[in-house]
Amino acid sequence: MEEADGIILGSPTYFCNVSTELKALIDRAGLVSIANEYILRRKVGAAVVAMRRAGAAHVYSSINYFFGINHMIIPGSSYWNLGIGLKPGDILKDKEGLATFRDLGANMAWLLEKLCG
Ligand SMILES: Cc1cc2nc3c(=O)[nH]c(=O)nc-3n(C[C@H](O)[C@H](O)[C@H](O)COP(=O)(O)O)c2cc1C
Repeated sequence: MEEADGIILGSPTYFCNVSTELKALIDRAGLVSIANEYILRRKVGAAVVAMRRAGAAHVYSSINYFFGINHMIIPGSSYWNLGIGLKPGDILKDKEGLATFRDLGANMAWLLEKLCG
């Protein structure tokens, strides 16, 4: 994470929240960053969330809180960055989700080009 210019954090929605694996990363990396004069400062951060039915907005917010408190820069998209699916490959049926991720990728690449050349 320290070496990256851009960071994508993804999580499924588990009982309306991030996975325990991602929460462990947020807690550890967040504290290490803050304790070392914000080593994640001005990196570009994007959240990517999967859900079956409900709760992804909360997961999306939790990841963006992590980016925000670490001085990171968050690109937008045409919707909040969530895809609908239960099993691997289900996302391919979520056309709006796919468009959201395509727009997110374009905006993140544009931003990284401006920031890092
Ligand atoms: C423990 C558990 C809790 C879940 N809770 C939710 C939920 O609150 N809302 C939702 O829409 N989907 C929920 N799901 C479905 C997952 O978000 C969705 O299927 C996801 O793509 C599964 O990713 P995975 O294969 O990495 O576990 C849950 C799935 C599991 C296994």
